[in-house]
Amino acid sequence: MPEIDTSRAHPARMYDYLLGGKDHFEADREAIGALLKAVPNARTGARENRAFLGRAVRFLVAEAGIRQFLDIGSGLPTANNVHEVAQSIAPGTRVVYVDNDPIVMAHARALLTSHPSGQTAYVQADLHDPESVLGHPAVRETLDFGQPVALMLLAVLHFLPDDQDPAGIVSTLLGALPPGSYLVASQTTADFHDEATAADGIQAVRRAGVPFQSRSAAEFGDLAFTGLKLVAPGLVPVSEWRPETEPGLIPPPGEVGYLGAVARKP
Ligand SMILES: C[S@@+](CC[C@H](N)C(=O)[O-])C[C@H]1O[C@@H](n2cnc3c(N)ncnc32)[C@H](O)[C@@H]1O
Repeated sequence: MPEIDTSRAHPARMYDYLLGGKDHFEADREAIGALLKAVPNARTGARENRAFLGRAVRFLVAEAGIRQFLDIGSGLPTANNVHEVAQSIAPGTRVVYVDNDPIVMAHARALLTSHPSGQTAYVQADLHDPESVLGHPAVRETLDFGQPVALMLLAVLHFLPDDQDPAGIVSTLLGALPPGSYLVASQTTADFHDEATAADGIQAVRRAGVPFQSRSAAEFGDLAFTGLKLVAPGLVPVSEWRPETEPGLIPPPGEVGYLGAVARKP
């Protein structure tokens, strides 16, 4: 079992704490405490991002006919993991989860509760090295790269600043997938915050030792969705992507702070 360093904040555990989970340590809670001071609605954003994930998976399985998912930066198991949502509609769906945090590996059993007619796998790998994900035996055994795959990159690209070439990484991953595949991606934005709030929020995460870059809709669109065909309604605050609640119950973009989209590889 890989070493889990509890002395430093880690994104998977910070996000778990934001979502009200139970797998986090003092350093993670301190980092989130500082973030909540700067951005008091940060919990709303995490919950809305998770709800977007569920709606996007349901769309892909029920309407786009997708039966394979590659979920990178999957996070700790929580409610409505990708395979649970997908297999509730199409039990034969196959899902590979990838994360670089050893704590996710330690809890991965909860991600491997596949319906018997489908399949799930967990791979510890780093998004910085997309070839190691694409070439991993568990990925190759679980997914058929001759058939469309939905690549899921939710709330993970903001941990890759531009100098780490996130656009090149996304392009390498998409390049390995056949036409008709999809990308679902979300990330934090400061588009709906005033500059001081945004800067304080970003600094709170960076001070905890976690590389972090917020992006505008234009920057995120260029990075992730260039050359793809956006599914309506396009790149929007995640709460506004095919919402299932009444308009009056959708939190305003400034409380959400995440952009997301679903797009098809032509
Ligand atoms: C905020 S959580 C998002 C979880 C889930 N995708 C969601 O949107 O609900 C981000 C996850 O990305 C993982 N992560 C961060 N950097 C990564 C990298 N370079 N490679 C793989 N996973 C990474 C973290 O460990 C964490 O579990």
